[in-house]
Amino acid sequence: MRKTSDIDVLSEAEAMAELEQLAKQLGQANQAYHGDDAPVMSDDDYDRLKRRNAAIEEKFPELKRGDSPSDQVGARPSDGFSKVTHAVRMLSLGNAFDDDDVTDFDGSVRKYLNIGPDTPLAYTSEPKIDGLSLSLRYETGVLVQAATRGDGSVGENVTANARTISDIPERLTGAPDVLEVRGEVYMAHDDFAALNARQSENGDKTFANPRNAAAGSLRQLDSGVTRKRPLRFFAYAWGEVSEPLSDTQYGAIKRLAELGFSTNPLTQRCNGPDEMIAHYRSIEEQRATLGYDIDGVVYKVDDLALQSRLGFRSTTPRWAIAHKFPAELAWTRLESIDIQVGRTGALSPVARLTPVTVGGVVVSNATLHNEDYIAGRDSRGGDIRGGKDIRVGDWVQVYRAGDVIPKVADVDLEKRPKDAQPFQFPETCPECGSPAVREEGDSVRRCSGGLICPAQAVEKLRHMVSRAAFDIEGLGAKQVEQFYADGWIAKPADVFRLRDTYGSGIQQLKNREGWGETSARKLFDAIDEKRRIDLARFIFSLGIRHVGEVAARDLALHYLGWDALTQALDAARPAALAHRAADEAETAERRVAQDEGRRARIAEVRAAAIAGVAPGDVAQAAWDDLIGVDGIGPALAASLSDALANPDERTAIEDLAQQLNIQPPDAPAADSPVAGKTVVFTGTLEKMTRAEAKARAEALGAKVAGSVSAKTDILIAGPGAGSKAKKAAELGIDTLDEDGWLALIGDT
Ligand code: IVH
Repeated sequence: MRKTSDIDVLSEAEAMAELEQLAKQLGQANQAYHGDDAPVMSDDDYDRLKRRNAAIEEKFPELKRGDSPSDQVGARPSDGFSKVTHAVRMLSLGNAFDDDDVTDFDGSVRKYLNIGPDTPLAYTSEPKIDGLSLSLRYETGVLVQAATRGDGSVGENVTANARTISDIPERLTGAPDVLEVRGEVYMAHDDFAALNARQSENGDKTFANPRNAAAGSLRQLDSGVTRKRPLRFFAYAWGEVSEPLSDTQYGAIKRLAELGFSTNPLTQRCNGPDEMIAHYRSIEEQRATLGYDIDGVVYKVDDLALQSRLGFRSTTPRWAIAHKFPAELAWTRLESIDIQVGRTGALSPVARLTPVTVGGVVVSNATLHNEDYIAGRDSRGGDIRGGKDIRVGDWVQVYRAGDVIPKVADVDLEKRPKDAQPFQFPETCPECGSPAVREEGDSVRRCSGGLICPAQAVEKLRHMVSRAAFDIEGLGAKQVEQFYADGWIAKPADVFRLRDTYGSGIQQLKNREGWGETSARKLFDAIDEKRRIDLARFIFSLGIRHVGEVAARDLALHYLGWDALTQALDAARPAALAHRAADEAETAERRVAQDEGRRARIAEVRAAAIAGVAPGDVAQAAWDDLIGVDGIGPALAASLSDALANPDERTAIEDLAQQLNIQPPDAPAADSPVAGKTVVFTGTLEKMTRAEAKARAEALGAKVAGSVSAKTDILIAGPGAGSKAKKAAELGIDTLDEDGWLALIGDT
């Protein structure tokens, strides 16, 4: 088998052939293991092939197969991980569902311990985090093992993955010689939403909720994948300890915090059921704004000596109980399905529901994701909800978690009205009537109307004035919508012409609802103030698909000027088209191979229509330079290229640029030895993550590229560096190890 490091020099054809081979080998291994109960491959070999497959897919995202083994994680549950027998069992908790259950819990504790009703008895009360539990074993202060709960006695060894979680310390100072720290791995709402957005942009599967995302991310055979997932950890318990952490639960949590763990700030000591229930109510009120999912409150007897007297029933402790929140699920009727059109033209179906209370909040709208979701299919054509489609008139189950947008999770076929019809997803934009097109591999149908589509135009304007873009005081989403509706602002540049066009307009503006002379004058001043804008913010403000804040900054740092960027994009255009053509051709081939006649022909026709563009050397070099920018992949580059090549959009963008004074990125510290240098990181970094290394380098004015070329000035090669190091040596490029690099930038 080839080494992972040679992937950089694989040609597309080689990569495609190898991915095919890997899909076959791994498919056979899965079948042999599951279907035939007769494994043909060791776990190690299986993992290695899977990692190889993932690495090739990362380098050639466009070659990822419909039947990629990467999407079959979980098909081989847990066998990829070695087993860990817990020194102290990991148990679950009994449940309380109402206030009486809480009083009963206190009564049963007192009864067991023979404590009268008048003797004070303290409990801790803390949120029950909705994630998955993890046990971390430290020996002489060093993290040696991390294990999932598994069946409580035997869990999975996920040590490599746990090490990628920044809330989990590698080393502890002043800890007992043996310390097992237990707690919950979870994903915050923001991170969950961003992860799902990324997954769907890449055509990967999305997660139903943050808990699934956390579980799926922690239980990855490739810790490189876990590293990219924003997991967090709250410590709330312990297993084996060589000396007690404290004599109270509250004290022990405090000690864990002192040792460097994140502990939940809502943990509180309560004197009896009344205070516990009051704290439960207070946590319930804060639930929607915590930023992560919780599903109840856990009460624990505070005195650890009493805890050990109380001990355990077969699977639950006598000294603790979980007071659950009411279910965040409810059934209601789907009254209609509306289609909303977003900034990039995406048509999003929204369920209009007969209002229903879900976990204490009234819900009347919920997302239906996309047309496949409504039809009961996932992005790869497999079934979801057992293939049940969703129809107007149906009785549907609504799911809400924290402040995540509610979604329609299920449908009750028994209650389906006889005349209910399958939902016809529109093929034209409901806002402007332009064709709504669904590209190969995209789960989303998009309006092709661009700025002539009022919905897209308004969304683009809202994006343009958002905080991370122009951030104009007094001009928020609401005002932009109002101006658009009134015809004062039709396209981006109009914002900066408001004073000229409507300058006397102060008069007109102040007569409008919500505006007075002062606020009108202030608005025009605030707009003028933002004519001077950073290149990165400007690029981000354009609202081009795939181009987020980070990519905009990477582009700004690389091209340093708007003119340089547009010239490069113009030069690269033929290569961008060739990229699209190759993509289509590849899809056509795959469809033929998979015997999907009709769809194969569509792709063939599309491919033929744009084929025959042979990019010249200049175009190819400009394209290679663009996708060589670290963080800029072919999909993003092609999207950017398409936007600038669309005549209407180009005119609108240039018109806007005319109104502005676009600033190059800040000059780096003059004394930085790496200012203006192009650097490439390869191999494993040991002192910091790749993301941190990149940020440091950029802060010092360096450009970070993803691959080695003649333009590379410095290669920083950690252990495991392969073909990049070889190429750098051939090109005579300076190569440093991580320490050498840190010494160069004066960071030791
Ligand atoms: S204490 C012996 N505290 O809930 C009991 N568990 O339903 C140890 N959980 O498996 C657990 N937040 O995954 C405890 N603050 C908290 C918790 C918590 C979430 C989870 C944990 C446990 C499950 C039991």
